[in-house]
Amino acid sequence: MTEKSSNAMWGGRFAAGPDAIMEAINASIGFDRRLAAQDIQGSRAHAAMLAATGIVDSRDVEAIREGLLKILSEIEAGTFAFSTALEDIHMNVEARLTDLIGPAAGRLHTARSRNDQVATDFKLWVRDQIDAAIAGLQALTGALLTQAEAGADWVMPGFTHLQTAQPVTWGHHMMAYVEMFGRDTGRFRDARARMNECPLGAAALAGTSFPIDRHMTAAALGFDRPSANSLDAVSDRDFALEFLAAASITAVHLSRLAEELVIWSSAQFRFVALSDRFSTGSSIMPQKKNPDAAELLRAKIGRILGAMVALFTVMKGLPLAYSKDMQEDKEQVFDAADTLILSLAAMTGMVADMTANRDALARAAGSGFSTATDLADWLVRAANLPFREAHHATGALVKLAEGRGVDLPDLTLADMQAVHPAITEDVFSVLGVDNSVRSRTSYGGTAPDQVRAQVARWRKVQG
Ligand code: ARG
Repeated sequence: MTEKSSNAMWGGRFAAGPDAIMEAINASIGFDRRLAAQDIQGSRAHAAMLAATGIVDSRDVEAIREGLLKILSEIEAGTFAFSTALEDIHMNVEARLTDLIGPAAGRLHTARSRNDQVATDFKLWVRDQIDAAIAGLQALTGALLTQAEAGADWVMPGFTHLQTAQPVTWGHHMMAYVEMFGRDTGRFRDARARMNECPLGAAALAGTSFPIDRHMTAAALGFDRPSANSLDAVSDRDFALEFLAAASITAVHLSRLAEELVIWSSAQFRFVALSDRFSTGSSIMPQKKNPDAAELLRAKIGRILGAMVALFTVMKGLPLAYSKDMQEDKEQVFDAADTLILSLAAMTGMVADMTANRDALARAAGSGFSTATDLADWLVRAANLPFREAHHATGALVKLAEGRGVDLPDLTLADMQAVHPAITEDVFSVLGVDNSVRSRTSYGGTAPDQVRAQVARWRKVQG
């Protein structure tokens, strides 16, 4: 077995290079190459600061800057030769910089370590993903608002236990998801504000004896301030955990909506028709139009939540400060972010394209004794019955109707009075589904005017 030469970056105390298996388990370049742009951005900010503070000669820094730009263009053009022997993106970039500009490249790592470097790169990357998630959520919210506005007064059954409960409006149902995705947006915004401290300059763990200007690099990279404790700066992955937590909750919401779309698009419900663009066919059953995108969205939560659990598990027992365990943060977050962004786009497409079947919704809204609560409420209001007595009388009427195979409005006044003498003709005014939803005018209720007011409020929030 030929012995590899020791590492160019830290080979001083090593007589031999790593075993091939050591190299395979240790290298992260296979995935952290996704941080290349952030790595170069961070290095440029660091180099500019080294020049401004006089720590490195500005001619060397100019060469470093040009070299980094050249490397970025090579990476963007796909001509950069990534090397597993060079372990990770940080050492790949630095080695290439040495090829390009010679020994001046070695000055870039003054007052810096890969520990603060990777924390900075990864934060910049996660911050971009948060912005993408917020944009995705906004697009989805826009599609839901359009649906809600169009169907603010379309009636449909509202369910509890997936059993018909009371009539609600289509707009109201759409707006429930607007609320959920609105909270998700808030969570991503909160996470972004909290994470926006710059680890760069924490160096390996203790800070540095060089007269660096951490405020300068923080500002150059769009951070609000430098992080205040160097040990925390290099060992913190809260920003990734928070991103995954916010992503997981969003994915739960996407999954619940997806589940409704699967149910609603079935032949038994026919509440919605999904567009051809967001459906698939069957290779054997010609009649089929399958809601594959919705089903996949329902499943994607598994990956995102899995990533969250994985990273929590990686982090939970680590002593301060950096440990190599933390290299396991990236693939989880990369996959979760890709999954989330794609899922948001797919849901936006499905919601924007779907057609609600107004007639089927209305038919279903009127069946299943959905206005029984309206009847009980009427008995309380008009006949001054205690609610419990009203509930009991209504139950008897439902039983009667059920026995005859009819709905509540099909019973005659005489039928009703036989159950409770206080009932008058006026009761029929509350048994229709349109009146039912129109009467639910309490704040946040399902009445069309309430829905329209919420749509208007959200449109203002959306800007
Ligand atoms: N590839 C490493 C990671 O992703 C970079 C930091 C390495 N630091 C170290 N002290 N070995 O975590």
